[in-house]
Amino acid sequence: MKAIDLIKPAGRREAALLEQIDLKRLPRHVAIIMDGNGRWAQKRHLPRIAGHRAGVKIAREAIETCALLRVPALTLYAFSLENWRRPHAEVSFLMRLLREYLKKELPSIHENNIRLLAIGRAAQLPEAVRKDMEDAMRLTSQNTGMKLVVALNYGGRAELVDAFNAILDRVRLNGLTAFHADEETISNHLYTAGLPDPDLLIRTSGEMRVSNFLLWQIAYAELYITDALWPDFSRERLLEALLNFQQRERRYGGLGHGREPGNGAP
Ligand code: FPP
Repeated sequence: MKAIDLIKPAGRREAALLEQIDLKRLPRHVAIIMDGNGRWAQKRHLPRIAGHRAGVKIAREAIETCALLRVPALTLYAFSLENWRRPHAEVSFLMRLLREYLKKELPSIHENNIRLLAIGRAAQLPEAVRKDMEDAMRLTSQNTGMKLVVALNYGGRAELVDAFNAILDRVRLNGLTAFHADEETISNHLYTAGLPDPDLLIRTSGEMRVSNFLLWQIAYAELYITDALWPDFSRERLLEALLNFQQRERRYGGLGHGREPGNGAP
């Protein structure tokens, strides 16, 4: 099976990219910082919310592409803990947009065997958003295809704080006096427990930052930063990112070529 058998290319460039993609070497988990909706709108003299609407369309396309290629997990950074600092009208628009997206797309997500998950501090989300997300997660909980993870009211440091407190609670509850945590203990208490760590982190709109996203999990992720603004991150650009990932040599601090790790240099 080849990538070109799974996706009908929209043009010659997409076809050429699909021809080159090796389905056996896709990332097990792609994480995306979708940045640049506001700038996209500004460039067109449109209100910021028009950028977010265009962003949803592209998110839909990215989800479809990853699901068709059978990428096991895709995480989208939809709303950070810091995003509450935006004007109230923009925050409520983003919340409305998310509910609208779920209402419209949930049937097709479910039909395509995609499992929806949310990461972040759900308790602080508006009740209606939380309920819609919970319903969507319940509906898709038995699906065995791609895991679509929406980071909502998410912060990487907050996730670590929540994990450490969950570990401390467990220690207290079990009355343990000697407890030794290792990396697995921490991974297992993160919101992402059970998911593979991202192999590829994509950020649009050119900023060289990780913005408090999946701080623990991206330890060995390949970073792909593109100047394209999120609403311009078409299928063609996503395929370019996947191909670029496949052309890299991953070393995990070792020497590569299957040799034993050396002195731990990055
Ligand atoms: C960044 O643009 C984007 C966000 C704040 C997240 C909103 C994301 C979407 C609407 C995509 C849809 C997601 C799902 C899960 C359907 P920005 O406003 O920070 O842009 P700027 O940096 O140019 O101002």
